[in-house]
Order: sequence, then C-alpha cells, then structure tokens
Amino acid sequence: MTRKPPPAPIKLRSRAWFDNPANVDMTALYLERYLNFGLTLEELQSGKPIIGIAQTGSDLSPCNRHHLVLAERIREGIRTAGGIAIEFPVHPIQETGKRPTAGLDRNLAYLGLVEVLYGYPIDGVVLTTGCDKTTPACLMAAATVNIPAISLSVGPMLNGWFKGQRTGSGTIVWKARELLAAGELDYQGFIQLVSSSAPSTGFCNTMGTATTMNSLAEALGMSLPGSAAIPAPYRDRQEAAYRTGLRIVDMVREDLKPSDILTRDAFLNAIVVTSAIGGSTNAPIHLTALARHAGVELDLDDWQTQGLEVPLLVNLQPAGEYLGEDFYRAGGVPAVVRELMGQGLIREHAITANGRTLGDNCREAAIQDDKVIRPFAEPIKPRAGFMVLRGNLFDSAIMKLSVISSEFRQRYLSNPDDPDAMEGRAVVFDGPEDYHHRIDDPTLGIDETCILVMRGAGPVGYPGSAEVVNMRPPAYLLAKGLHALPCLGDGRQSGTSGSPSILNAAPEAAAMGVLALLHTGDRIRIDLRRRRVDLDVSEAVLEQRRAELANAGGYAFPESQTPWQELQRANVGQLDTGAVLEPAVKYQRIAQTMGIP
Ligand code: FES
Ligand code: MG
Repeated sequence: MTRKPPPAPIKLRSRAWFDNPANVDMTALYLERYLNFGLTLEELQSGKPIIGIAQTGSDLSPCNRHHLVLAERIREGIRTAGGIAIEFPVHPIQETGKRPTAGLDRNLAYLGLVEVLYGYPIDGVVLTTGCDKTTPACLMAAATVNIPAISLSVGPMLNGWFKGQRTGSGTIVWKARELLAAGELDYQGFIQLVSSSAPSTGFCNTMGTATTMNSLAEALGMSLPGSAAIPAPYRDRQEAAYRTGLRIVDMVREDLKPSDILTRDAFLNAIVVTSAIGGSTNAPIHLTALARHAGVELDLDDWQTQGLEVPLLVNLQPAGEYLGEDFYRAGGVPAVVRELMGQGLIREHAITANGRTLGDNCREAAIQDDKVIRPFAEPIKPRAGFMVLRGNLFDSAIMKLSVISSEFRQRYLSNPDDPDAMEGRAVVFDGPEDYHHRIDDPTLGIDETCILVMRGAGPVGYPGSAEVVNMRPPAYLLAKGLHALPCLGDGRQSGTSGSPSILNAAPEAAAMGVLALLHTGDRIRIDLRRRRVDLDVSEAVLEQRRAELANAGGYAFPESQTPWQELQRANVGQLDTGAVLEPAVKYQRIAQTMGIP
C-alpha cells in the first residue's frame, strides 16, 4: 500500500494538554502522569498525533476479545505513520452474556466513550468494533464528538460445522430449540450442537447484527474497504489492523472527520446494502440512532423507499446457506457494492475513511464465488428489504421480507382472494418470562390460526428492548410439523433469526401504545399489500380499555434493578427513532465547540 506524504501539520487538540505555554501549571500536571509509564517528553511534545485505541475486547466480551491481540498491530501502524497510540477500555457489551439485555448497554457505552473522546488529549481514534451493539455504540460516540475516527471490525468466527453441515451462530440455536422441544435432542446434545457454531475467536459467523453492522460501517465509509468480512483468525485481519493504524494518523493530518463521511448519501448507501446482504432487523434501529447523533435526516420511510425493492444477493444464514468465511472469500462488501453500483443504486461519490470515494474503492471489486454472492440479475430473492407497517395497533413496525419462507407464504399468504393478507387470533404474552411459562400450556388452545404477540419487550418495558419477538410455536404444534406462527411485538429480534416477525413496534406497550390494550382472543389483520396491521376492536372498546388500564396504574412492567436501568428508562426514545438517549441528541460535533487549541 503506497502512502501519500502527509499534508502540512495541523493544530492538534492534544497540544492544549501537552504543550500549552499559556497554561504552564496545567500542562505540567497533564504531562507528568502520562510520563510515568515510559512515554517521553519528546514524544508528547513532538507534535505527533495522539491516537486513541477504543478497546472493546475483554474476557467479558469474547466476540471482541481478539481486539486485545489486534491492538498490537494497530499500534505498530500508528507508530509507523508517526502517531502515538493510547489504548483505553470501552464499557464491555457481550450480546450473549448481558442481563437483562445487551441493548441496554449500547447507550451506556456510547455515553462513556463520548466522555473519554471529549475529555482526554485524543486527536483521532480507532474504534474496535464487533459484537452487535459495540459497532453502533462506537460510531455514535465518534459522530457526537466528531474527531477523526476509523472503525476496525474484529471479524467473524470461522465457519461452524456439525456432522458435515455448516452450523451458524445464533441461527443454529433457533433450530436446536425446536429439536429440543420436539424431543429429538437432549440437554447435552442441545449444548453440543449449539457450541459447534463457535469454533474460534470472533463474532457470529452468520449475517446477524454483528456482520450486518460491520458491513454497514464499511458501506458508510467508516472502515477500510474490504475489511469488514475478514474472519478474525485470518492473517489478513492482522494486516487490516496495521493498515487501520497507519491510516488514522493521516486522517488526523487531513482532518477527515465523521461529519465528512456520515452524510445522508452514505446512510442511503447503507440502507441499500442492508437489503442486498440480508441484514439484521436491528440495522434500522442502529442506523437511525447514528444518523440522529450525526445530525443527518433519516427515518423509517427511507428504509421503505430506498431499501424494500433491493434484492437479496448474499447467501448467508439466516436468509441463506453460507457463513462468514464464505462471504469473505466471495468478495465481501466491495463485491456487493460493485453489483449495486452496476444498477445505479449506490451514491458513488460518498467519501470514505481512506480518503477515496466508495465508488473508487469498489469499482474493481468482483464476485469470486457466485453461489455465495449472486449477481444482481440472478438474486436469491427479489424485494429483500424491510417493509414498514402501520395501522391502528402501532405507529410503525418492520418486517424483514428476505426471511419469509415458502412454507410460511404457502400457509399464511396464499389466500386466492387476498394473497398478501392474513387474519388471526391474538395470543398475548407480557414479556419473555410470561412466554416461557405459558407457551406449552395446552389450555391456551394455540393453533395455526393464531398470531403470537410479545409486548412489554420495548426499550422501556424490558430495559434496552429484548430480542424475543421470534417465538417458537408450542411443542405440540412443532411435533406436528408446524415450525412457525406469525409473531408480532414491541421488542426486537436477533439478527440471526429467520423468523418473519413484525417487530420493533412503536410505541411500545410500556409507553401506553395500543399494544397495551390488546387482549388474547382479539382478531388482528395483517395486510402486506397495504402495509397495514389492524386490530378488529372498535375505538369505543379501546377507549374503555384505556381508561380501565389507566385506573389500574397503566401497563405494568418489572421495576428497574440497577441505577442505569432507571436512568435509561427515563431518557430513552422508542425503537422507530433509534432508541437513543433523547437528551443526548442535541450534543453534536462537540470537539468543535470545545474552543481548543
Ligand atoms: Fe457477539 Fe453474535 S453474540 S456477535
Ligand atoms: Mg443479537
């Protein structure tokens, strides 16, 4: 990789700490403690950029743990390019380990990182991203502070295998729990099958939220081209870490900031890419949150108008067959972007972290394996985006069209009079615990005409919003071969799930959305052609139920168990607007308001 000579030196914000003759007392204080582990005065006063490495890896966050190793190569890149590396921890977020939800911690990690990037002598930052929420948390913080920033994905795990079949992380859990419920697996067999999907360091090897969000970081231009999909253990991943370290130093010298990269066009590119890769239903939540902190207009209608009709090109589980290693070998994000560019679907002039446009970065990319990345003319499925649904049950919800199976379509959507509509009897659960207690209770009388509803699982009701809307049918229906019922709810769903649920419904029951007024036995009509979901209950009856619920003290949900749960609940918005901390949104580009140096 050839590097341009650096442009003329710019004023670095770190000089206000380390080399400020106008404030000798404080400069000495700032300096002396950063000398105590061996950095020299010459280095700190040399005018070299100080580059933060925002470390999200730890023993508590196994998906990102390999960043502890990669940080060495990032440092070498920074040092080679003439910068000084300062590594610091980011609040850990492990999707599979955090109770009650990892979603609760995205905004906490965001807040913590904003405070560090703003308040310490950091001129630019490498964001070490990976597991689901770590990527949006880091990008959101970089957008708020707006110092030069580049993201480095830790990369997916190697492919999982069991008895000659690929086992994808997360996705295999949904299958294994059906086998367990149907009595085809025992406890040990269940754990063995699920564990086979995690054969190495790295994050989920499926097109879950992690691969989605790291692919989107690349499509947005926040990471080096071709870097998102490299599996964690590959040597190419170490090379990407080194090059990322090299590059951030020049980004500081060029003053290339998130506000230059995260434009509306970049977000529209990311929406198109989400459809083509079969991305997670968490993507609209996180991209909306990022856009709001970046001060960019973006709403759910953009997903409908820009993304819905884009076909599915990437054949990765859960929408397809393959896994992360296959995606990388087939060409990764640049090959997908190149296919979309051929159809005029990409705003090619969007600038990226390497200083070139997205179009220039991807023009020469090619598909290396068309079983894994399909040419645009022969997609896996047409119309692979998210449908935005509205109606009298909620203001908005989304549905991922790429995962509607032909079995599901046949069973629920093939009425000759109205091929895109279905109607069913609601069976309502208040939170995941209620669902687990009652789903196999035969007195509920669940059959194939029912719609399972999960409520109390939104950002307020189940703090952070739980990934629980994809509900398996009762065991007695699984045993009869019925693998999916229509599901609907105010919670989220794992990106690794292939369930065609209607989810992210806003406002949630805990915010007294109409979902709070729903009773088991009510009839719900879902009409995909008109993009509506409506409850067949009169407005007068709903008014009466609303009054009764208000008299009873409102929709009940569990009390907060930690201080952060209470603070988040008091300040968080709904999923359709990114579930951000609302009071945080007004703080934009704050490094530029600091008035230094
Ligand atoms: Fe971390 Fe899936 S659990 S990426
Ligand atoms: Mg998840």
